[in-house]
Amino acid sequence: MRRFIVVWALALVSPVCLAAGAHKPTDSVYINLSDQASLQRGARTFVNYCLSCHSAAYMRYNRMAKDLGISDSVLKENLMFASDKPGDLMKTNMAEEDAKKWFGVAPPDLTLVARVRKPDWIYTYLRSFYLDEKSPNGWNNTLFENVAMPHVLYSLQGSQRLAGMDPETGKPQFTVVRQGSLSPEEYDTLIRDLTNFLVYLAEPIKLKRHSIGVFVILFLLVFLVLAYLLKKEYWKDVH
Ligand code: HEC
Repeated sequence: MRRFIVVWALALVSPVCLAAGAHKPTDSVYINLSDQASLQRGARTFVNYCLSCHSAAYMRYNRMAKDLGISDSVLKENLMFASDKPGDLMKTNMAEEDAKKWFGVAPPDLTLVARVRKPDWIYTYLRSFYLDEKSPNGWNNTLFENVAMPHVLYSLQGSQRLAGMDPETGKPQFTVVRQGSLSPEEYDTLIRDLTNFLVYLAEPIKLKRHSIGVFVILFLLVFLVLAYLLKKEYWKDVH
């Protein structure tokens, strides 16, 4: 009987684990939306290396600049390659049909990707590309097998080969083939900033929520004092 229950429990749980990709361990990333410098660096990496293929079509350039404390001139000179109007949505200039022809699948919009895939997943994904001769574009990814995206940051990270899996942690082990222009620590920081930015992108209101919360509490405190004084005033004549 007990074995029967265990088998059933496993049968129920395993599809959930597979769907969530829980069988592939990820590295954890520290997300801090009040770190404005990190968000700005992430935005720069995003427009330089991702926007050529992916859109973030639910975000406008000027909203991003305002949220992240970026001035108009910096926005126009350093962050707007795909458009010239600050009120434009952050769309890629790559036509969807071309993208399908080149990659076999159109690069998905990334505005909400940090909600669909979790921050830890994105952070691990962007550090898990490795050389693979069998893949059409020469790259593969341990977290997203046979992914159609090439390793667009290889000049920064360098290239690596998959050496095997760590039997204890289940995490991949890589050997460096060519050094990139960044050290491993610098590359991790770059990806952390980029992930931080993608988390902001998926829920820009998170930046505001904290300051609104403080206002709400202050308002309630003032209201409490007023209500107390009013109560005293009303009951004055009753006693
Ligand atoms: C050369 C074009 C190209 C560039 C540049 C590019 N990507 Fe991609 N990306 C793709 C394609 C194509 C896919 C779809 C892969 C698939 O489904 O096999 C993809 C998929 C992804 C996914 C997985 C989405 C999902 O949930 O399935 C993420 C996350 C992602 N890209 C992030 C980025 C980031 C961040 C950058 C900038 C550093 C970037 N990409 C730059 C082509 C590109």
